[in-house]
Amino acid sequence: MSTVFLPFTFPNGQVIKNRITKAAMEENLADPGHLPGIALYNLYSAWAKGGAGLIITGNVMVDHLAMTGPGGVALEDAENLKAFQKWASTAQQNDTKIWMQINHPGRQVYKNMHGKALAPSAKALNLGKFSKLFATPKAMTQLDIADVIQRFVTTAKLAEQAGFDGVQIHAAHGYLLSQFLSPLTNLRDDEWGGSLANRARLLATIISKVQAEVAPEFTLAVKINSADFQRGGFDVDDAVAVVAMLEELGVHCIEISGGSYEAPAMQGTTADERTLAREAYFLTFAEQIASKTRVPIMTTGGIYRLATAEKVLAENIALIGMASALGAQPDLPKRWTTEPDLVGTMPNIAWQNKPLKGLATMAMVKRWLRESSQNKTPTLNANPIWTLLKDQLIKSKQTKRYNQKIKQYG
Ligand SMILES: Cc1cc2nc3c(=O)[nH]c(=O)nc-3n(C[C@H](O)[C@H](O)[C@H](O)COP(=O)(O)O)c2cc1C
Repeated sequence: MSTVFLPFTFPNGQVIKNRITKAAMEENLADPGHLPGIALYNLYSAWAKGGAGLIITGNVMVDHLAMTGPGGVALEDAENLKAFQKWASTAQQNDTKIWMQINHPGRQVYKNMHGKALAPSAKALNLGKFSKLFATPKAMTQLDIADVIQRFVTTAKLAEQAGFDGVQIHAAHGYLLSQFLSPLTNLRDDEWGGSLANRARLLATIISKVQAEVAPEFTLAVKINSADFQRGGFDVDDAVAVVAMLEELGVHCIEISGGSYEAPAMQGTTADERTLAREAYFLTFAEQIASKTRVPIMTTGGIYRLATAEKVLAENIALIGMASALGAQPDLPKRWTTEPDLVGTMPNIAWQNKPLKGLATMAMVKRWLRESSQNKTPTLNANPIWTLLKDQLIKSKQTKRYNQKIKQYG
């Protein structure tokens, strides 16, 4: 049997039936009130039946006024916990485990959402002519920091109450916790900035406070960047040092990714001189990190073949994270048990304009998620132009709805 289908036990005793994890993908399929509903239940049912051992949800916001995008899920109070319980139990079919990824976008928020734009320092995103789409953030005060810490703790506790098997704290991809870690975005000179220990303080504080509130069997995981892939940014030596801190704190699993909106390495594109591998983009970095820690390491990015997944596991990596390929074919893990040579599908958009290519890639995967959420088979060869236009149209309607809602109810 392939090593990919061997079970795995986390340091807290939680067992998953195989090494394949559906990595977090924001779905933008929430019901009104930022709640999971039928669309998400259908999608997660497809993934649970499809054979992955572990499912990590798309990022769930700790504050509905700071969203990565419209149509996202937020969990801030116990009022609608039933909808989340149903989400968890749907994903737990077929002996599958589910962790909720929890996130705060920091400065990576669209201006037209009119929500909060907070960051370690008041430094706006630089995306060339697309920069104006994003809000200029406000440097966080001590009160803002205390509020964000409490929000992560509340969301994690509620996820446990709803029956999720764990949470993954999102500290990668240029979102708030990643902004604190990076010297490019964290220009503070107080205890939350400067040295790496100071830049990691917000993440470490959130972890300790969450740990104090949840059961030891509830898995606590973190997603971090191997590097920002921008000159002068957070780099792999910093990642090794942060992983050592997380090990000390007793974190149960660390997922290695990379990049941000400015440098979308998670799509295989960097903003410095480095090129990534064509498959398993972050494997070299993940190996380097895994060789220096006992915490189980997962790596995500560019994995869509069973042979590549096996190669990753052979390099001392505990778990395989897959996003796009499981968007295209939610049942790929199950199919690999009988068709080991089946090559998964990735969005393959060969456009020159990098920001547009990035948007079209996301739009294609989101289209696949939408189709599965309607119990349809994803259109693997969909036209990228139409897919991008439709995605923009959906986003604009969702944004309008979001704005009306927050104007009315806050
Ligand atoms: C549509 C889409 C939404 C995503 N949303 C998230 C997210 O909410 N949280 C996260 O950590 N990563 C997110 N990602 C990144 C994936 O988890 C993953 O790191 C990246 O896609 C690389 O893996 P892949 O090559 O298997 O797709 C998203 C990716 C896609 C395509």
